Amino acid sequence: MGSGRPRSCRRLFNSLVEQGNLRLKTIVMGSLFLIFILINSFLLSSAPIGRAKKASTFIRSEWPSDDIPLGHEAFAIPKGYNAPQQVHITQGDYDGKAVIISWVTPEEPGSSKVQYGKLGHQYDLSAEGTWSNYTFCKYNSGYIHHCLLDGLEYSTKYFYKIGAGESAREFWFQTPPKIEPDAAYTFGIVGDLGQTFNSLSTLEHYMQSGGQTVLFVGDLSYADAYRDNDIGIRWDSWGRFVERNTAYQPWIWSAGNHEIDYMPDVGEIRPFKSYLNRYPTPFLASGSTNPLWYAIRRASAHIIVLSSYSPFVTYTPQWIWLRQELSKVNREQTPWLFVVMHVPMYSSNDVHFMEGESMRVAFESWFVQYKVDLIFAGHVHAYERSYRISNIHNDVSTRACFPVPDKSAPVYITVGDGGNQEGLAGKFRDPQPNYSAFREASYGHSILEIKNRTHAIYRWVRNDDGKKVPTDSVVFLNQYWASNLRQRRLKNHWWKNHIFAF
Ligand SMILES: *[C@@H]1O[C@H](CO)[C@@H](O)[C@H](O)[C@H]1NC(C)=O
Ligand SMILES: *[C@@H]1O[C@H](CO)[C@@H](O)[C@H](O)[C@H]1NC(C)=O
Ligand SMILES: *[C@@H]1O[C@H](CO)[C@@H](O)[C@H](O)[C@H]1NC(C)=O
Ligand SMILES: [Fe+2]
Repeated sequence: MGSGRPRSCRRLFNSLVEQGNLRLKTIVMGSLFLIFILINSFLLSSAPIGRAKKASTFIRSEWPSDDIPLGHEAFAIPKGYNAPQQVHITQGDYDGKAVIISWVTPEEPGSSKVQYGKLGHQYDLSAEGTWSNYTFCKYNSGYIHHCLLDGLEYSTKYFYKIGAGESAREFWFQTPPKIEPDAAYTFGIVGDLGQTFNSLSTLEHYMQSGGQTVLFVGDLSYADAYRDNDIGIRWDSWGRFVERNTAYQPWIWSAGNHEIDYMPDVGEIRPFKSYLNRYPTPFLASGSTNPLWYAIRRASAHIIVLSSYSPFVTYTPQWIWLRQELSKVNREQTPWLFVVMHVPMYSSNDVHFMEGESMRVAFESWFVQYKVDLIFAGHVHAYERSYRISNIHNDVSTRACFPVPDKSAPVYITVGDGGNQEGLAGKFRDPQPNYSAFREASYGHSILEIKNRTHAIYRWVRNDDGKKVPTDSVVFLNQYWASNLRQRRLKNHWWKNHIFAF
C-alpha cells in the first residue's frame, strides 16, 4: 500500500547521493515529500496517516522513528529469579588493565560479586563490588551493581560470571594491548543511539564491524522523552537493549543533553541522576574530580572525554583539568590523541547550529597547539566530517572570523546519527561551508582502525534500510608522527593513491 513508488524513489535518491550530489538530494527530498503528501491525501480516507508513513521505506529513514515497544525481544528480560540484566563494561583505570562491570538486579540486591578467569566456566578469581539504588519521580530503580576488576593482563580474554544459581550469567571481554605506539586497535564511534529500530540496525551493523571499544558521543537512551515511571523504565530497557554489545566490550561514555534529566516540575533537580547512577567512568584515575569528564589511554590512543553540559570557561574545574591532562599526553607512547564530546564545535547542519561555539572559543587553541588528531561529537542527528581547519585567529574587532586551513588542527567528526526517536536532522546549511568535507543525513556509525603510529583507516558506515553501506572513507595520518612521513612522501608508497586528510 503506497510502498511501491516511494521504494523506487528511494533507489533513485540513493544513487544520487552516491554520486555525492547533496544539493540534488535536497531537491529530490523536497519533491519526494510533495509526492508523499499527495499519496497520503489519497489514502487518508482508507488508512490512518501513521500506518501510511510506516509503509514507505523512504519515509522510514527520514521521519522521527518510534521507540521499539517494551515487549519486543530486543529488550528481553533474562530468565531466572533476580537474574542480572543491563550488563555493561567500561575501562576501569587510566591504562587499560582494569574493567568496571555493571549490572542491575530487579528483585533484591543479591550478590555484587564477579567471578572471572582466563578459562571459560572456570573462575579462579573474584572481585567484590557494591550496589546502590535511586528514585526518579515515581520510579524506584533496581539494584545497580558496579564491580572493579583490576590488575588484569593485557591482550587477554577474560570470562566472567555474575548472579547466583540458575540465574547466573556468563560473558567475556578482551583486554587491550599494552600502551605502545604501534599497537593496532579498532574503535567504533556511536552516538545519539536511543532505542528505535534504526538504533537496533546501527548496533547490529557496529557489531559486524570488528570494533573493539566504543567511543560513545552522548545521548544514550532518550528515556527523558517519557514521563513519570516510564523514564526509569526506558533507562532499563535501553540497558537491556545494548547489553548484546556492552557486556562484551567497553563503551567509553560521554554525557549528552538527554542525560541531564533536569525536571523541576516533578521535583527532579539533580542533573545526570539516572546516568551517573548507571554508567560509571574511571575519572579518578586521570585526576578528574567529576565522572562527566576524564581521560583514558588504550593501546596507542589517548582519549579525552569532555562534558558539553558542565562549566568549561576559564578557571572552572573542567578547564583546569583539561589543561593538566593535555600536558600529560605523551605522543611517543600514545601517538593518537582523540577528544570525545557531545556538542560539535564544527557542524554545518541547521539543527543545533553554533551550539558548540562557546566550547570552541574555550578549547580550540589547545586542540591545535596539542595537535589533536580527531574530535568526535554527536548531538546533531546526521553525519559530517570537516577538513583540518581552525578559527583560532577569530577576532571580533577585525572580523577575521573564517575557519582557515590549518595543518595542526584536528578533523571534526559528527556521528549523532545512531537512530533515536527524534529522527534525522535533514537540513544542512546551503551552500556547504568550505570547512565541511563530507556530510549526509543518514543513520550510521563510524569505525577507526588504528594500524600503527602513523596510519589509521577511518570509515563512516551508513545504515541503508537494513544493509551495511560503507560511505565516507579516509586514511588519517597521525598528527604527531605525520611530519616525519611527509618528508618521505615522494617515495612511491602504497598510500600514494589514497585520500589523505592532513
Ligand atoms: C533501596 O533499596 C532498599 C532495600 O530494598 C530500600 O529499603 C530502599 O528504600 C531503596 N532506596 C531507594 C532510594 O530506592
Ligand atoms: C573559506 O572561505 C573563507 C572566506 O572566503 C576564507 O577566508 C577561508 O580561508 C576559507 N577556508 C578554507 C578552509 O578554505
Ligand atoms: C603503518 O601502517 C600502514 C598501513 O597498514 C603501512 O603501510 C605502514 O608501512 C605502517 N608503518 C609502519 C612504520 O609500520
Ligand atoms: Fe544531544
